Amino acid sequence: MSAGKSFWEMDELRLVIGAMVILGGATGVLVVLPYLLLDNVKPPAGLKPYTNEQLVGRQTYIANGCVYCHSQQPRDIKQAPDFARGWGRASVAGDYAYDTPHLLGTMRTGPDLLNIGARQPSKDWQLGHLYQPRAYTPGSIMPPYPHLFEIRTGQAQAGDTVVKLPPAFAKPGEVVVAKPEALALVAYLLALDRTYPALPPLPKTANSAEAAKEKP
Ligand code: HEC
Repeated sequence: MSAGKSFWEMDELRLVIGAMVILGGATGVLVVLPYLLLDNVKPPAGLKPYTNEQLVGRQTYIANGCVYCHSQQPRDIKQAPDFARGWGRASVAGDYAYDTPHLLGTMRTGPDLLNIGARQPSKDWQLGHLYQPRAYTPGSIMPPYPHLFEIRTGQAQAGDTVVKLPPAFAKPGEVVVAKPEALALVAYLLALDRTYPALPPLPKTANSAEAAKEKP
C-alpha cells in the first residue's frame, strides 16, 4: 500500500470488504432468515415420527437415487395441477418436521411421492413395482431394482416375503423374495402420507366468543 492512496484506490481491501458484504447478505437471506422463520414450526398432530425400519428405508431411497426422478413437494393449485393429479394438497413446512435431510427433489420424471402411502397403500404392489415397474405400468421408464430382491429356485422359506408378481411376469419354478432393504424401503414409502389437514383448526378466541354472544 503506497502512501497517499485513498480507500477507493486500495483494490485488495475493496475486494475483501465487497466479498464479505455479499457473503454476509447471502448468509442472512439464505440461512439466518429461513432458520428464524422455520424455527418455531411444530410437527402437525397427524404426523408420526419415522420408525427405525422406515429410516433404513429412507436411506435406501437416498442410496438408490429415487430423489433424482421423484419430488416430495406437491405444489399449490396456483402453481401446478398437483392436487388434480392426485398428489395431495400443497405441502407445508411442518410436513417435513422429521425429514433430515429433506428429500424435496427437483426432478419429476415420475410422480410426486409425498403421499404415495395414501395413494397406493398395497405392500404387494410396492414390492412388485420396485422389482419390475413394467409389470404394473406398461412401458414404465422407471428402472427395476432387482438387487433389492433375491431369486430362489423352488420353494420360499419360512419368514420369506414373497413378491406376488402378475402372472405374466412370474417365472415358473422361481420365487422372488424381498430383501430387508426392499421391505424397509416399502415401509418408508407407505409412511409417506401427509393427507392430514395442513393447518390445525383455529382456536376459539375471546373475540369470536364475544361475537357469538352478540349475535343470538
Ligand atoms: C429414471 C427415473 C426414476 C427413478 C430413478 C425412480 N423412479 Fe419411480 N417412477 C418413475 C416413473 C416414470 C414412474 C411412473 C411410471 C410407473 O408407475 O412406473 C414412477 C413411479 C413410481 C411409483 C408409483 C407412483 C404412483 O403415483 O403410482 C413409486 C412408488 C416409485 N416410482 C418409487 C420409486 C422408488 C422408491 C425409487 C428408488 C428406488 C424410484 N421410484 C426411482 C421414474 C423413476
